[in-house]
Amino acid sequence: MKVTVDTATCQGHARCRAICPELFELDELEQKSHVKLATVPPELEGRAKRAVNECPESALSLDR
Ligand code: F3S
Repeated sequence: MKVTVDTATCQGHARCRAICPELFELDELEQKSHVKLATVPPELEGRAKRAVNECPESALSLDR
């Protein structure tokens, strides 16, 4: 599983980082989320899905 951020859509709400800091970091200058890991480890899949669902801008997507 892979998660991607649409940086044009991300508005820096940081809910993704709050839900799964192992996976998301925020560029403090741009206020955009970046994915830290190329693939989502199985133990983080649940929180990755939650982050995708809870982003207010729908800027995150999951791919198998
Ligand atoms: Fe951006 Fe959504 Fe996270 S707006 S910072 S991807 S919660």
